Amino acid sequence: MISLKAPAKINLFLKIVRKRPDGFHDLASLFQTVSIYDELSLELSDQDSFSCSETNLENNDNLVMKALNMFRAKLAKPFFVSVTLKKSIPSQAGLGGGSSDAASMLNGLNQLLDHPLNYQDLHEIASTLGSDIPFFLTGGAAFCEGRGEIITQVKLPEEKSLWVVKPPINLATPRVFKNLDLASLPDENVDNALKSHLEGDGVFFNDLEPTALKLEPDLQSLKSSLVMQGFKDILMSGSGSAFFCFGPMKPVLPPEYEVYPCHYVS
Ligand code: C5P
Repeated sequence: MISLKAPAKINLFLKIVRKRPDGFHDLASLFQTVSIYDELSLELSDQDSFSCSETNLENNDNLVMKALNMFRAKLAKPFFVSVTLKKSIPSQAGLGGGSSDAASMLNGLNQLLDHPLNYQDLHEIASTLGSDIPFFLTGGAAFCEGRGEIITQVKLPEEKSLWVVKPPINLATPRVFKNLDLASLPDENVDNALKSHLEGDGVFFNDLEPTALKLEPDLQSLKSSLVMQGFKDILMSGSGSAFFCFGPMKPVLPPEYEVYPCHYVS
C-alpha cells in the first residue's frame, strides 16, 4: 500500500490571455502548492474499489477514478486498485483539490506498478483529464501557460505568514469563465509579475476575480473585511471562491468561513 499527500494550490497571479477556438482560455499564471492536503491511499487488489471521506464524491465520475481508467487504458494491461481518499481541501474553491487528487493518483499508480509510464505519458493523460492536473504532477511553484499544461518550474522565496480563507460560497469554474468579459481585463505585464515574485516582492492579480465578485457579491465583503484587518496581497485563487492573504495574525471571520494557516510547499 502507498499513501500520498495531495496539496492544494494558489495562483499568485492569473492572466487570461485569450479565448481559444476550442472554448478554453489560454492563461499565464504562477501556481504554487500550499500546505493543505488531501490524502490518497492505493493498494493493488482483485477488483477496483473507491472510498472517500466525502460520500458525495464517491463515484466513478471522480477525477481519481477517471485517472485510474485512463492510466489502465494507456498501459493496456489489467490491474485493479483499492483507493481511499481523505478530503481536506475544500471543493469549488479554486484550490485545485480534485486536480491534485488526480495527479497524485497518476503518480501513485506509476509508483505502485514500478514506473511503467514516463513523465510524457503521465502529462498526456493529465492534460486530457483537466487543465490544472499537469501542474500537480510536479507541484511546487510553476509558471503555467496554454490551458495550464505548458509548465516552467520556478523557485520562489519561502512565505510563511499566508492564510487561505474558504467562504461559505461555492463557485463552479465553468460559471466564472462563461461570465468573463475579456474586453474589460487590465493590461498586466506577465514578465514583470513573474520577476517580481522571483525577487520576493510579488505583484498579485487575478483576471477571474472581478467576475467572481460580480457573481457573488459577498466575496467583496470578505475582501473588504481582510483589507480592514490590515492584510496585504489579498487575492482570490483560480476561479474562486477561496481567497488568500498575507499577515502575521489569523483573520477574524464568522465561523462559517474556514481559515487555514499555510505555507508554500514544493
Ligand atoms: O479543464 P477543466 O475541466 O478544469 O476546466 C473546467 C472549465 O473551466 C472548462 O470547461 C472551461 O469552461 C473552463 N476553463 C477554460 N480555460 C482554461 C481552464 C478552464 O475556459 N484554461
